[in-house]
Amino acid sequence: MRYESLLHAIGHTPLVRVPFDVPPRIYAKLEYISPGGSIKDRSAYFMVQQAEKEGVLQPGGTIIEASSGNQGIAAAMIGAAKGYKVIITTTEKVSKEKWDTLTAYGAEVVICKPTLDLHDPEGYYEVARRIHEQTPNSLFMAQYFNQNNPLGHYYSLGPEIWDQTGGQLTHFIGAVGSCGTVGGAGRYIKERNPNVAVVGVDSATSYRSTGGNPKPYKLEGIGVDSDSPLLEQAPIDEIIGVHDDDVFPIMKRLAREYGFLVGPSSGAVAYAAYEYAKNLSPDDFVVIVFGDSGRAYLTKGFYN
Ligand SMILES: Cc1ncc(COP(=O)(O)O)c(C=O)c1O
Repeated sequence: MRYESLLHAIGHTPLVRVPFDVPPRIYAKLEYISPGGSIKDRSAYFMVQQAEKEGVLQPGGTIIEASSGNQGIAAAMIGAAKGYKVIITTTEKVSKEKWDTLTAYGAEVVICKPTLDLHDPEGYYEVARRIHEQTPNSLFMAQYFNQNNPLGHYYSLGPEIWDQTGGQLTHFIGAVGSCGTVGGAGRYIKERNPNVAVVGVDSATSYRSTGGNPKPYKLEGIGVDSDSPLLEQAPIDEIIGVHDDDVFPIMKRLAREYGFLVGPSSGAVAYAAYEYAKNLSPDDFVVIVFGDSGRAYLTKGFYN
């Protein structure tokens, strides 16, 4: 593949068989192959392009995002490539590698109080919103509420999965955070074949899983932490909640026995898919999403 722009290289990721010992075939979409290293390149790029088309973002402008990491990294990469200033609000929970990555791309990082409530005035979401209000010619991506987030996946991830499977998939399983991935790609796939089961994977102790009484969890890039309009619209058949302790053993196995060094959201998806697939048949064809690489989490000790 050859591209005239870094941003044109976003997406186009391989779909690779994961040889788990279960009846159906399982293939993983390796989103860590994208230039910014995660699935969030797709949604961030689409949100920026739409903001440019709508005149919200003009030359010399600023991209602002509240991100636990990957959406911010994607914004920082795109901002660097397009010449925008980038401000990312985040929390201390984010891995050191992700923080260093943001600053390497030249983004300004604002660390906010950790909170389980997205609308906490001192939390990363509300701080980003205030910075946006005070910054003319700025785009606040607001991935949790921005319709262009799922649309980005509707137009890129969904068609790629459909084409790479020849429309043969029976199950699509991905992590839910903002719900852009599963909502957007899931909608595209369901429009092609409504019988494909779309399954989301959430933290078992998130706001959604606990009915509004969340408990802290170590998984990153996953977890529905507030009421989510994008989740409400998403054509999801089922959501599986997974615990931190379920995920770390399979992350280690994926790296040591299969050669997939993936992050915790991918580990959560792999765990959920493995358990789910035990009850499927050899005729089933499961596609899962590996959203980012384990290289971004090495200092967290998940693989020790
Ligand atoms: C690695 C990774 N996988 C999956 C997700 C969840 O995707 P979404 O926010 O589209 O639901 C995220 C979200 O940040 C992520 O970073």
